[in-house]
Amino acid sequence: MTFLRVTGLSKSFGGVKAVDQVDFTVKAGHVFSIIGPNGAGKTTLFNLLTGLTMPDAGAIILDGEDVTGLPAHQLAARGVSRSFQNLQIFFNMTALENVMVGNHLHTTRRFLPCLFGSSSVRDSEARTRIFAEELMHYVGLGDYVDADASALPYGALKRLEIARALATRPRILMLDEPAAGLNPAETAEIDALIKRIAEDGITVLLVEHDMHLVWGVSDHIMVLNHGRVLAEGTAEEIRANPEVVEAYLGHRARER
Ligand SMILES: Nc1ncnc2c1ncn2[C@@H]1O[C@H](COP(=O)(O)OP(=O)(O)OP(=O)(O)O)[C@@H](O)[C@H]1O
Ligand SMILES: [Mg+2]
Repeated sequence: MTFLRVTGLSKSFGGVKAVDQVDFTVKAGHVFSIIGPNGAGKTTLFNLLTGLTMPDAGAIILDGEDVTGLPAHQLAARGVSRSFQNLQIFFNMTALENVMVGNHLHTTRRFLPCLFGSSSVRDSEARTRIFAEELMHYVGLGDYVDADASALPYGALKRLEIARALATRPRILMLDEPAAGLNPAETAEIDALIKRIAEDGITVLLVEHDMHLVWGVSDHIMVLNHGRVLAEGTAEEIRANPEVVEAYLGHRARER
């Protein structure tokens, strides 16, 4: 079943076509990865899909509904959430409070039922706190529930950013470079977390330069280059595509 369909999506900044006539569809429950060189338009695409940036042209159909041009809070209410390439953590709050802030954006209880079904607490603040604690355990940060956000190591902050995004109870979660700056062990934890999120029925869009992570978790991969779709397919197809190797993968291999 198609959960997200994007057609002809375009956005220019001055003379730069950051996203140029992009078409793709994402199946419900899939991990759909978007890769490509720096400046290819990946973050701009997320900004368009989350209502932070208005498209110049094109359409965004979410679960059969045309949501093109809706502002961020209306997309959040329809189950769209994202993490940010540059962490959006409030360092003057505790880790838990950061997750609770995410929860205030949304109140329906349709998703992630396993995570809050046990709660019988009526008071909504207490409920929010319990759900935020459950989310921290879910992303592997159970030890940091009472910690100040400023005390968390970088790898933990990356997962706190994901917990904050999950607090809106999304149907589709967009992760912008969740493994950037992480060591292999921390990246393996992100790999397992992404798989668990998808298993729990949340569709995942992943932007990531760590190809080990991308090959490991993706059901489908799209390659952007200069704002355009260069290729899409399975990991095997993308790996074997000479244009993708030339534009992106070859350069990354040489960097290592
Ligand atoms: N707000 C903006 N104003 C002007 N130009 C922008 C803006 N946002 C993005 N761009 C330009 O659009 C292009 C795409 O940028 P974008 O950040 O989407 O790339 P990216 O694929 O996420 O790159 P990276 O892998 O480095 O994060 C770049 O040329 C960038 O300079
Ligand atoms: Mg980016």
